[in-house]
Amino acid sequence: MAFTLTPALADDFVGRKEITSELVNQLSSRNKIGYSLSGVRRIGKTSILKEVERRLTENRKVPVAYVSVWRVSPNTIDEFVRVANRAALNAFRNRLPAKFKFEELLVTGKAALTRFLNSLKLSAKVTDDLEVSISYVRREASDVDDALTGCFSLIEHLGEMTRTNSVLIVDEFPSLVDLTYGAKNQKIGDSMIKLIRTLYEGFKRTKLVISGSYRQTMRNLVAKQSAPFYKQLLLREIEPFSESEYKEFLQHYLPGLKFTRDAVREQLYRISSGIPYNLQLLGSEIQLQGLNDLSSEKLSGVVDGVLRKEGELSFKEFVDDLTPSEVKVLRALARSSDIKPSGIAAQQFMDKDTVGYSLSLLVNKGIIVRRGRGAYVFPDNLFGEWLKSSDDL
Ligand SMILES: Nc1ncnc2c1ncn2[C@@H]1O[C@H](COP(=O)(O)OP(=O)(O)OP(=O)(O)O)[C@@H](O)[C@H]1O
Ligand SMILES: [Mg+2]
Repeated sequence: MAFTLTPALADDFVGRKEITSELVNQLSSRNKIGYSLSGVRRIGKTSILKEVERRLTENRKVPVAYVSVWRVSPNTIDEFVRVANRAALNAFRNRLPAKFKFEELLVTGKAALTRFLNSLKLSAKVTDDLEVSISYVRREASDVDDALTGCFSLIEHLGEMTRTNSVLIVDEFPSLVDLTYGAKNQKIGDSMIKLIRTLYEGFKRTKLVISGSYRQTMRNLVAKQSAPFYKQLLLREIEPFSESEYKEFLQHYLPGLKFTRDAVREQLYRISSGIPYNLQLLGSEIQLQGLNDLSSEKLSGVVDGVLRKEGELSFKEFVDDLTPSEVKVLRALARSSDIKPSGIAAQQFMDKDTVGYSLSLLVNKGIIVRRGRGAYVFPDNLFGEWLKSSDDL
């Protein structure tokens, strides 16, 4: 079976039955319910979103525009506008009165653009949205609020024009606030979120689905009374694979694999923490080593192999933007899981306040989880193993 480190789709998409059928059913219904998915890095958010997109478009004939903010590169507003417009037009391509590509509009000269747009027989609102967005992307206009309004309204106006309900998916939504504009790389920050929320309130045809990796950020967007999307989006937390999803994964990806004891099967689940990305890494190493039966010793060899070959590439980015104090605290936790904050302070020559502060930052970032007073664990055991094995941080 083919392992992958990119989002898993169709036959290779395992488990997640409840959340995918809820999303597909709600998003293709007449209800005006949108969703917000929150889940730690590599838990499988994008895979769920892409699978839901596939089922909505293939089975329910619902147009879906999917945009990943992390894929917007360079991460500027004009690039975002370009990507989002392309996605919206693409979602409606079979319903438009005339066939054309967004790129064609971009290369049409300023004077000819209005004529070209008119020849496409789009509604006045859609024409207007496109004109505004295109002139912004081409730097002929500079009002960033106008450009974003045109960009987000496009999908709603396409829905109005074709009398179709559609879905807009914005993956890694919180990173929108980091997009920049203008020569000085200014950020519009939170006002971007407010703008989208105000527009979304008026939408009748478009349902919004967003995702993000930091639980607290997503709660702040959706779950508090003062939150911009309070009562507009339902918050769903994506958890690690359950044991039965883990078994399904093994059956699909490693159908011939035997375990010398049941305990080894559980060991593999525990080291992966049920995180699909880790299972893909470990599974491909098992395949690479040509193992048909897995013992405890062989499993150790598999983990070592993964950490040696992929550890740096897979986990270094988690520590790259941490402060030196946070890294010290993590190291101490990785070495002995039951160490208390006072123990960390003594071991790492830090003062207790710094340890406490670093711990709370790490919890907010989802890198560690608090399990009661002074007790912290890694939600990702493979990452914990990597921290233990890498001395040069
Ligand atoms: N349901 C699934 N079945 C099989 N593999 C999966 C599933 N979900 C995720 N994976 C695998 O896990 C890895 C991470 O998945 P994905 O990119 O969807 O997660 P994510 O939460 O969006 O991660 P990121 O934080 O990097 O955005 C990929 O290698 C993907 O193939
Ligand atoms: Mg993702």
